[in-house]
Amino acid sequence: MSYQGKVVWVTGASSGIGEALANALLHSGAQVILSGRRVGELERVAAAAPDRALVLPFETTDYDALPQVVEQAWAWRGRIDVLINNAGVSQRSLALDTRLEVYRQLIEVDYLAPLALTQLVVPRMVERRTGHIAVISSVAGKVGTPLRSGYCGAKHAVVGYFDALRGEIEQAYGIRVSVILPGSVQTSVAVNALVGDGSSRGRSDANIENGMPVATAAKIILDGMAEGKREIPVAEGKELAALHLRTQDPERLFDMLAKEGARLATLREEGRSIDPSDIRSER
Ligand SMILES: NC(=O)c1ccc[n+]([C@@H]2O[C@H](COP(=O)([O-])OP(=O)(O)OC[C@H]3O[C@@H](n4cnc5c(N)ncnc54)[C@H](OP(=O)(O)O)[C@@H]3O)[C@@H](O)[C@H]2O)c1
Repeated sequence: MSYQGKVVWVTGASSGIGEALANALLHSGAQVILSGRRVGELERVAAAAPDRALVLPFETTDYDALPQVVEQAWAWRGRIDVLINNAGVSQRSLALDTRLEVYRQLIEVDYLAPLALTQLVVPRMVERRTGHIAVISSVAGKVGTPLRSGYCGAKHAVVGYFDALRGEIEQAYGIRVSVILPGSVQTSVAVNALVGDGSSRGRSDANIENGMPVATAAKIILDGMAEGKREIPVAEGKELAALHLRTQDPERLFDMLAKEGARLATLREEGRSIDPSDIRSER
């Protein structure tokens, strides 16, 4: 599949992976709907090809506003060929230190919001008997990683919903569903990650800074989608290995994760901060 002329809706297009996807899509000749909350940032991205970009800001968890937002997106070119549910927020806090409200927020932003948007777009795609839905889950959607219990829960839920949806609409209506599993990618994800009291972490960490360049991640995602892949790992090194271990030798993986958890618990018991450099991977 070529993206030339396709109408593609990208959420979270104001930074990071979503911005890189939007840039690559605009470069490929696609018509791109850019969503996020920061209008100025969306306009900056749209400036690359203003005649083929629609800036459509919205808060993804404002479910009451969604029907009107979807109406506007669809009306722009009379269709949506591809929806990429990318907007999301991560976490950096131990379960022992994390308030219930934080879990609720992660489930809302990372699971219910992409589900709600997809639920409104799918019936229109079903009517046309064509379309492609993608969602950015994470390696954390397959591997339960210390410091990310709420994020992992939400990203695992994403995999479950979108895999089940694919089963229902792929053969029946010709609609593709791609689940994307990135490891560490160089974005603001760690800066924006929630900590135990619900505030943003406000600083990055070594794994993200040393992660995959965001343009490389966007290329792997778009190439994989163009090939019609149902699941697209965007990871290398130990993060890719963790994905394989999860199915091939889960006990070994659980041992490794427990060791990491014990190290973090020791820091906590000693009253020392869980320093960014102690965080081994963004999944
Ligand atoms: N970077 C990684 O290592 C990594 C690894 C695995 C998975 N992921 C996933 O990749 C996706 C993109 O993250 P990123 O790494 O590019 O981080 P990022 O730079 O922090 O980007 C997050 C994007 O999501 C949007 N967003 C967040 N909350 C939103 C809300 N409530 N309503 C509307 N838009 C919202 C933000 O836009 P506004 O601020 O303008 O609203 C921003 O464009 C996320 O789903 C993340 O979980 C990232």
